[in-house]
Amino acid sequence: MKLFDVYPIYDISVVKGLGSYVWDDKGIKYLDLYGGHAVISIGHSHPVYVKMLTEQLQKIGFYSNFVRLPLQEQLAQSLGEVSGLPDFQLFLSNSGAEANENALKLASFATNRKKIISFTGAFHGRTSLAVAATDNPKIIAPVNETDNVIFLPFNDVEKLKKCFENIGFEIAAVIIEGIQGVGGIQMASDDFLKTIRQLTTHYGSVFIADSVQCGYGRSGIFFAHNHAGITADIYTTAKGMGNGIPIGGTLIAPHLKPEMGMLGTTFGGNHIACTAAIAVLEVIKNENLILNANKVGQYAMEQIKAFKEVKEVRGRGLMIGIELYEPCDKVRKSLIFDHKIFTGSSSNKNTLRLLPSLAVTNAEIDIFLDAFKKALK
Ligand SMILES: Cc1ncc(COP(=O)(O)O)c(C=O)c1O
Repeated sequence: MKLFDVYPIYDISVVKGLGSYVWDDKGIKYLDLYGGHAVISIGHSHPVYVKMLTEQLQKIGFYSNFVRLPLQEQLAQSLGEVSGLPDFQLFLSNSGAEANENALKLASFATNRKKIISFTGAFHGRTSLAVAATDNPKIIAPVNETDNVIFLPFNDVEKLKKCFENIGFEIAAVIIEGIQGVGGIQMASDDFLKTIRQLTTHYGSVFIADSVQCGYGRSGIFFAHNHAGITADIYTTAKGMGNGIPIGGTLIAPHLKPEMGMLGTTFGGNHIACTAAIAVLEVIKNENLILNANKVGQYAMEQIKAFKEVKEVRGRGLMIGIELYEPCDKVRKSLIFDHKIFTGSSSNKNTLRLLPSLAVTNAEIDIFLDAFKKALK
């Protein structure tokens, strides 16, 4: 059997990882400033993570949601504490798309409405409603096309107000990334997020903060949206939550009530996934990784701004977009093949993304800066 050929891949086989580094099958070491697309939050093969997962696997790896799973309660407790949302409720799934799909369904159930507002440049995943709320016609199959999703221009307060004035009581939810990731590290303005909060409250709609990429401490606080001083009704998480073990979370405000059978999943919240997520939170807490993301991110952005070849640096914490004056693919390739450093691309051809582990150090950023200078030549 051949693989279904959908990924434009580099011919590198990663076989080992430790901290901010990975090694290929030829023993070549790479500095990983991409984290497998913002997934590696605490570093590769962190010893606490490996120990907890190994011990858990020796006990039991999986059981489904027809019995009580105390690890889910332990995770909910820890996540409530670290995220600052102790009153919220947690629904566990397996990916970012599922976390968003469930958030959107829940908003529709709760409001008994059908319309969803999403924004230009948004990426919310590839399941049916998540992809319909994603601003990329190429990945929306005909069966996923729907009039229920309304796209408005990102950060346009006036257009958003107009839309609510016209059909506010039909809107089930507004879904937005605090910092658009795939869209090229575009920041939602504080004013825009505050307006979403005011309008959704006024019209009884649900504010969904897609934190799959920008959440979990990456922006220097737990949820990037909260930089605007607001609290959303639902936060969705995945990526960094399990440091590579698939897990998604839909964090739900107390006023949204569950009903038996309303949401469900076979794999979501299994023993291994919960253990991975508990280990991640433990390491984030014990090693002060959110503070580190803040400090190292600021250092990196200041240094990168000084390059004359850089048009703009966007982002917060360790979610950094470097926009060049020209397409960045050559620089990215040179970083990988000449300098052995992984970085990410985005839908904006000129923008390179840095999404390293939250434990990355200034010294590792210096290695990047030196290589970046050479790669730009
Ligand atoms: C903001 C955002 N939401 C949702 C998703 C989908 O996550 P997953 O690929 O885990 O389904 C992504 C993935 O890149 C994302 O960046």
